[in-house]
Amino acid sequence: MSTAIVGVTGVVGQEMLSLLEDSPLGEEPPRLVASPRSAGQQFRWRDESLTVEALDSDIDLSGIDVALFAAGGSISKEWAPRFVAEGVTVVDNSSAFRLADGVPLVVPEVNGEVIPKGPAIIANPNCSTIILLMALKPIWQLGPKRLIVDTYQAVSGAGIAGLEALEREASGGEFRQGEPFPFPIHGNLFPAIGEADEEGVTVEERKMLDECRKILSSKDLIVQGTCVRVPVARCHSLAATLLFGDEDVNRLSMAAEALKAAPGVVFHDGAEAPPTPGPLSGAHPVSVGRLRAPFADSLQMWIVGDQVLKGAALNTVQIAESWSRLS
Ligand SMILES: NC(=O)c1ccc[n+]([C@@H]2O[C@H](COP(=O)([O-])OP(=O)(O)OC[C@H]3O[C@@H](n4cnc5c(N)ncnc54)[C@H](OP(=O)(O)O)[C@@H]3O)[C@@H](O)[C@H]2O)c1
Repeated sequence: MSTAIVGVTGVVGQEMLSLLEDSPLGEEPPRLVASPRSAGQQFRWRDESLTVEALDSDIDLSGIDVALFAAGGSISKEWAPRFVAEGVTVVDNSSAFRLADGVPLVVPEVNGEVIPKGPAIIANPNCSTIILLMALKPIWQLGPKRLIVDTYQAVSGAGIAGLEALEREASGGEFRQGEPFPFPIHGNLFPAIGEADEEGVTVEERKMLDECRKILSSKDLIVQGTCVRVPVARCHSLAATLLFGDEDVNRLSMAAEALKAAPGVVFHDGAEAPPTPGPLSGAHPVSVGRLRAPFADSLQMWIVGDQVLKGAALNTVQIAESWSRLS
């Protein structure tokens, strides 16, 4: 199986490169691709030095089976169909194809059965959506009708530029408007990620609603909340309230048992300290804590996941591994 990483110089692309070292997809060294600015740059992979190729009209796609895209929506829109036309399956991290008809939107632990055989575009969901669904899927059979989810999203969710902004401001440097944030982030937070629509709902908040509905095949599910950018380098945290519409005093214990048994989830019971983003940077599983039911018609929980890994690179590699087992 031969792979390529498009956007290898970025926050997500670098994690993909590292994950492929220990993946069954790493039988052959991956092809490294980024913008023409990065052509010729070298990265270590196992004991080899690999050279970055430019994504331009001269690129030779022959021999590539699956390409992991992490270069932003406009690159995906332009290039993913061209890769597929050359017989390459694309697993795409951007939002470009997530809601497109016929494009599977996949979290392997949640709906891995929709992964197709053969060349296709497969979309990786939004990072907060993946982290939420890892905690929601184990208790989905309990029948929540409405979710209220507030997110506390790390600056690396905005890529290298987001990390640089926090580091620059924290070391006394100036705030630079729009690079990438429209507000200072050090010692601050901002309760809106992306533009707001006419209802005041931001792009990031809308993604959670639309993507949860698609992945869970649940058109009536309501997901609402506030997505907040916080001055944390890495790992998104989510405060989720699940509303069921009826009272059940047994729901709390059933949810705890399901979360304890869930693959890819670490459950912190009430006696343990809740998970926090700092120590979980680099962790593969999603952590869930503070599960509680102060009212018998609802459950509340706190969820933390490394959005660069399970929210992006790791989920993408897992999709590609599942796809390769079918093909
Ligand atoms: N960061 C996260 O937590 C996260 C989570 C989920 C999804 N995502 C998605 O993953 C994608 C990458 O995000 P990121 O955070 O890794 O961004 P990033 O750190 O800013 O990296 C962007 C990458 O895109 C490449 N690129 C830019 N213009 C290009 C072009 N014209 N041709 C080819 N490559 C080009 C860059 O290459 P150069 O270095 O050559 O410019 C770089 O490798 C985005 O779609 C993002 O929405 C990110």
